[in-house]
Amino acid sequence: MLTPNAINEQLTIPQEDSTTPVKPVEALTIYDLLKSKGITKTLEIGFAYGRSASHIMAATNSPHIAMDPFQDHYQNLGVQNVKTLGLSDQLELIRDFSHSVLPRFMEEGRKFEFIFIDGDHKFDGIFVDFYYSDFLIDEGGYLMFHDTWMRSTQLVLQFIRDNRKDYKEVPVPNKNMALFTKVNKKDDRDGMHFKEFYTLKSYTRHHTTMHMYENPNGLLRKMFLGLKKIMGK
Ligand SMILES: C[S@@+](CC[C@H](N)C(=O)[O-])C[C@H]1O[C@@H](n2cnc3c(N)ncnc32)[C@H](O)[C@@H]1O
Repeated sequence: MLTPNAINEQLTIPQEDSTTPVKPVEALTIYDLLKSKGITKTLEIGFAYGRSASHIMAATNSPHIAMDPFQDHYQNLGVQNVKTLGLSDQLELIRDFSHSVLPRFMEEGRKFEFIFIDGDHKFDGIFVDFYYSDFLIDEGGYLMFHDTWMRSTQLVLQFIRDNRKDYKEVPVPNKNMALFTKVNKKDDRDGMHFKEFYTLKSYTRHHTTMHMYENPNGLLRKMFLGLKKIMGK
């Protein structure tokens, strides 16, 4: 059995690009979720070095589809990693954009139990990935998003929370991920439905975090750390 530790020991990921894949602890969350739910039908947008894909395949022991138009920009290391791990037979890598592949899958009536959205990180890219993934997920299925620190991702997540009552958010132990399960087969909004999903809280939180990250010695960060200390956190 291929364990998450064994996967991470064998993956080749260039040091200068170490922030591109999910972190090992995040990959473990994916692995545990799939194993605990007995999920086998999986799809992934954004393959890169294959860390998330390898964990998905090791957890399900089933075929997995990933799409990424830029694998050659990664010197095909993702494909090589999967080969090293002995998982090539499980992987179908489609070297194309999600905005081309997902509508095709929808037309073909394909269905998945788990879709990992980690491709184009611009707002419209993530939103389109969510929009089409929704057609590919059945009731009880899961959609997972990475890079929730990004404002673009946060806005898509907030849109789902406020407008898509057919989805329920499931807590995950990682700050940089979000998970939703589809609780209703039908999206029963009428054609005029729109609920504002911009929140000042989320906007302020993002910009405060970014400011502290960019100014590690700034007053705001010092105050934040001081407050944390006082509160014993
Ligand atoms: C953050 S990386 C994915 C990391 C991977 N999920 C992991 O954790 O191992 C994002 C990937 O999405 C790919 N990508 C960017 N735009 C895309 C699109 N429109 N459709 C599919 N993949 C895309 C990039 O080439 C890149 O490899």
